[in-house]
Amino acid sequence: VRVAVIGGGRSCEHDVSLASAASVADALDPAAYDVVRLTIARDGSWSTDDGPRLDLAGAVAVLAGCDVVLPVVHGPHGEDGELAALCELAGRPYVGSAVGPGAVAMDKWVTKLVAEAVGIATAPGRLVTAATAGALAWTGPVVVKPVAAGSSLGVSLVRSPDGLAPALAEALALDDRVLVEEVVVGREVDVAVLRRADGSVVASPPLEIVVDGFFDHAAKYGGSADFQVPAALDEVDAKALEAAALAAYDALGCDGVARVDFFLTEAGLVLNEVNTVPGMTEHSQVPRMFAAAGLPYAALLDELVRAALA
Ligand code: DAL
Ligand code: MG
Repeated sequence: VRVAVIGGGRSCEHDVSLASAASVADALDPAAYDVVRLTIARDGSWSTDDGPRLDLAGAVAVLAGCDVVLPVVHGPHGEDGELAALCELAGRPYVGSAVGPGAVAMDKWVTKLVAEAVGIATAPGRLVTAATAGALAWTGPVVVKPVAAGSSLGVSLVRSPDGLAPALAEALALDDRVLVEEVVVGREVDVAVLRRADGSVVASPPLEIVVDGFFDHAAKYGGSADFQVPAALDEVDAKALEAAALAAYDALGCDGVARVDFFLTEAGLVLNEVNTVPGMTEHSQVPRMFAAAGLPYAALLDELVRAALA
């Protein structure tokens, strides 16, 4: 089976995606898969391995020569459904969520609306744009985040009124729409959901991110966070998290693997976000979670590819 693994991309998660894609390409069983590595540069141009730059038609021709596509591009212009759309247009089966779910899950505001509609709590928050940012009044500590970004880029924890304007400016530099949310105090616990090749949908064991302080970009990629999997949870919390993760995946219409991120507060669980192209290096959360459930990294990738071909 010839599989195209796409990494890189135009978003600020370019480097994170390169790491995910390289790890995925290396781990696909060479006895079963002939891997074609495709990279999207920051300027949007494509290339295969060390080959020449390809225009879009050239990239589509490469995809057309593959049996299945495995996009591992995080953030806007990838995870948001753009690559799913390209695969649809090229008539190639692909791993992961379709256009609609990718776009909705990338949008933290719309995700919040969908989650609340199916009874999953999220942090109280407001949508702010450049036109409305000036009118935002200080009501207490908040988290300011671009509606569509990833890896915590542009995200600020604002503790005092004079921090609000710079935080809004930083987030608005990355996105036209910004979410201003009440600070949620709780443990950070993720659950991954996978549609297996046989069509069944399963949740991973929960993973707790043990971090001293704020799980920001530096903590995510600087190695100061620790993952505990399975998270030490009581039965009630574990069941509630699993049910909410499955419900979020189902309500959004996800496919492939998605990582559903929660805060576990004294008042119950709060959905933070849904990642339809989560970090996929061998040491990222999702592979760690399924490995803990007895599905090693290469077998997880095999499930994803076979599901896409099923
Ligand atoms: N956005 C990063 C890659 C993640 O969610 O894992
Ligand atoms: Mg994310």
